[in-house]
Amino acid sequence: MKSVVVLHHLLCLLLLFSHLKSVSSWKKEEFRNCDQTPFCKRARSRKPQHCKLTATDVVVDNGDLTAKLITPNNFQQNLDEDSSEIASKPLILSLSVYQNGILRLKIDEDPSQNPPKKRFEVPDVVLPEFESKKLWLQRHTKEVINGDSAESFVVYLFDGYEAVIRSDPFEVFVREQGSGNRVLSFNTHGLFDFEQLRVKKEGDNWEERFRSHTDSRPYGPQSISFDMSFYGADFVYGIPEHATTLSLKPTNGPGVEQSEPYRLFNLDVFEYITDSPFGLYGSIPFMLSHGKSHGTSGFFWLNAAEMQIDVLAPGWDAESSISLPSDQKRIDTLWMSEAGIIDSFFFIGPKPKDVAKQYASVTGTSAMPQLFATGYHQCRWNYRDEEDVKNVDSKFDEHDIPYDVLWLDIEHTNGKRYFTWDRVLFPNPEEMQKDLASRGRKMVTIVDPHIKRDEGYHIHKEASKNGYYVKDATEYSGSTPSLYIWNDMNEPSVFNGPEVTMPRDALHYGNIEHRELHNAYGYYFHMATSDGLLKREGGKDRPFVLSRAFFPGTQRYGTVWTGDNTAEWEQLRVSVPMILTLGITGITFSGADVGGFFGNPDTELLVRWYQVAAYLPFFRGHAHHDTKRREPWLFGDRNTELMREAIRVRYTLLPYFYTLFREANVSGVPVVRPLWMEFPNDEATFNNDEAFMVGNALLVQGIYTENAKDASVYLPGDETWYDLRSGTAYKGGKTQKVEASGAIPVFQRSGTIIPRKDRFRRSTVQMENDPYTLVIALDSSGEAEGELYIDDGKSYDFKNGAYIHRRFLFSNGKLTSVNLATSASVGPTFLSDCTIERIILLGQTSKPKSARIEPANRVTEVELGPIQTRTGVRPSVLTIRKPNVKVSEDWSIQLFLKKGTSNGRGKAKA
Ligand SMILES: *[C@@H]1O[C@H](CO)[C@@H](O)[C@H](O)[C@H]1NC(C)=O
Repeated sequence: MKSVVVLHHLLCLLLLFSHLKSVSSWKKEEFRNCDQTPFCKRARSRKPQHCKLTATDVVVDNGDLTAKLITPNNFQQNLDEDSSEIASKPLILSLSVYQNGILRLKIDEDPSQNPPKKRFEVPDVVLPEFESKKLWLQRHTKEVINGDSAESFVVYLFDGYEAVIRSDPFEVFVREQGSGNRVLSFNTHGLFDFEQLRVKKEGDNWEERFRSHTDSRPYGPQSISFDMSFYGADFVYGIPEHATTLSLKPTNGPGVEQSEPYRLFNLDVFEYITDSPFGLYGSIPFMLSHGKSHGTSGFFWLNAAEMQIDVLAPGWDAESSISLPSDQKRIDTLWMSEAGIIDSFFFIGPKPKDVAKQYASVTGTSAMPQLFATGYHQCRWNYRDEEDVKNVDSKFDEHDIPYDVLWLDIEHTNGKRYFTWDRVLFPNPEEMQKDLASRGRKMVTIVDPHIKRDEGYHIHKEASKNGYYVKDATEYSGSTPSLYIWNDMNEPSVFNGPEVTMPRDALHYGNIEHRELHNAYGYYFHMATSDGLLKREGGKDRPFVLSRAFFPGTQRYGTVWTGDNTAEWEQLRVSVPMILTLGITGITFSGADVGGFFGNPDTELLVRWYQVAAYLPFFRGHAHHDTKRREPWLFGDRNTELMREAIRVRYTLLPYFYTLFREANVSGVPVVRPLWMEFPNDEATFNNDEAFMVGNALLVQGIYTENAKDASVYLPGDETWYDLRSGTAYKGGKTQKVEASGAIPVFQRSGTIIPRKDRFRRSTVQMENDPYTLVIALDSSGEAEGELYIDDGKSYDFKNGAYIHRRFLFSNGKLTSVNLATSASVGPTFLSDCTIERIILLGQTSKPKSARIEPANRVTEVELGPIQTRTGVRPSVLTIRKPNVKVSEDWSIQLFLKKGTSNGRGKAKA
């Protein structure tokens, strides 16, 4: 028995809730809209140039540029309805520059003016390593722009980019040196507003009401808003979580019907609807823009209060007299938050992957998952008892369907007391887990943040006695090392609270109002659970924790899923842009409930859902307890076969997925990517969210309608694309019609090499020593490359170099394996005897007969043959059988047309 005690230093929960899961459909009226939210309504009604602000006292101090922002005396600021007395004390601005083109802009109240309290600045998100990348500003230059009488202060940023602060009217922007083209700008339209904290006087009434709830707002209104412009942008993306398209549609302005702004407020929303800017379970205030002229840029506002963001249609500011110095195409946005400070980051790109890396350098890359977590997960609310678990587990084997993890929802507990078991239904939880583990399988159980108020419950007793709330378990009996955790309801969901969450004026440890940190609450819960699991294993094994709520930095602690979706075709469709959006905003390990949580999917929808989700990072089937059973063998042989095939394909591709997870872990580039991340110059991809890339090599086209026999697929770039099942080659740069009845269309891009493991096994553990297959898709010059990363799949030894990382290169008829591991391992090494048992060459036009393997100086046969498995057309592809080279070693394989002749170039047929 291990004890897992995690006390969290910041979030000691002062409110206790009893928790019951209940179901109802989406109730719009339970949630506030912008008009019912005073700070949002006010900010939205402001006109351009509302703000009259001047930056004064600009100095370089301690390596940063600082300034005071003041409202000129002769300007009477717009009096907002409930703020009869706007504080007009100066604000303090600081601007810092970091490596790789990152500008950080902070604006807060001036501490020397004695504000009633310090505003909340989100801790624990920005990496300490990031701070060490701060560049020391020595000086700034002054200039006068466009005949303005006011000065501007210019600091050099990076690689031909510089940041400019204009003093009057106050504006901050980033531009290219030389051309002067802008990249990003802040307060260009003068919508800046910052409501300062006030001390309540006789007669002040700052209460805000919503339905039956009252928010006392003890410091008065404290919101912040400003405009942000993205230049050279065709589209903007990001700011999850919303069930909507990948590119964000305008919410306001000419030619669009005004909608709600995109809301960022973590909420438990039952049966959420698609195509909506409504805020769901998690929030990441990070927006990216992409366009043909500048490429990609990004803006991140680290703030945990409720946020609302408008994307403005071109011409929204037509009535103002603002004229920008250039006629660059741009997208303007309006950012509004209820509280906190401005702590913001400008990322200049200019390539999509640069922005992903820049954002990851601030908030961290994703944790390296254990290998098992990349396999298939089977969940249901609820598997009833030990018998049920045994049955489901054995059916997977009976039907030859691999899976890695069986999940239990809330009913496994003793009366909803987390970290306990219902001993009638689950009398021997440890044995049950050990039995699963004997087949290499794991278990995950749920832990919500609600603590049952029960004086006999040890968790509740201890928390009450010590005056804090414990975020994880003590003396969690019935746990073994193969048990992992799922955090649900951590928005937090509070059924009797306003908007199903905690009151905004509730106080957390350190006198922090809930309104200030709401969106980070689930993040801390996730962090604490992950730390708890890490401690259970003595810091040795990587934790696995799935969370519903998230915030920037969540990627360092675990996995997220898109919450309680519904068994509808539209929900399958929207799951793709939702997961892509999470990926480009740092959280690559995410997925949606396969089949849809609420309702019963029809069989075809369920099958399609498996086919799409098999290519998404987190792959879990889950269902509500009122739904019919839907395990993959319950829908007749043909459908079982299709679902088995989808899951098996995922397992064959796990070496590729794991390599991509490592890439994400090192660089922040997500495992699944919007097409424009790989094809940034192909405009036809910018708005495509029905297809996606897995790494740089696979293009997956989802099918989101019934009875689809074929599909029109846009294949980008000048490459050739090889159908994954048949090997058929298609030309890129156009839309192709392809067969789609038995599986969804998936293509391998020419110029890439994908590692696979093709033998069928029960779970990832049994695949460990299996040999690999390499699938090589040649480009027009007969070349290709790819990578393979392997480690022990569970410990942290890889951080000390215990891994194998190879690059495979094919050129001039020769395949070479090169070591990519940067340095020799310190401490334990990772060894593998795995070999490569087959090499498949696509796009090889000449017909080699033999291959010479070096350094063994061995010659082997080369065959022309159909590609492995699957039905349909089988064009000839070249197969090198049993080269039996080791993945851990350097080697090369040279193809020969006949003995002793080097092979020529391959050419794709299209
Ligand atoms: C990769 O993942 C590990 C384990 O989760 C984490 O400790 C590490 O910081 C991540 N990043 C890198 C660059 O290794």
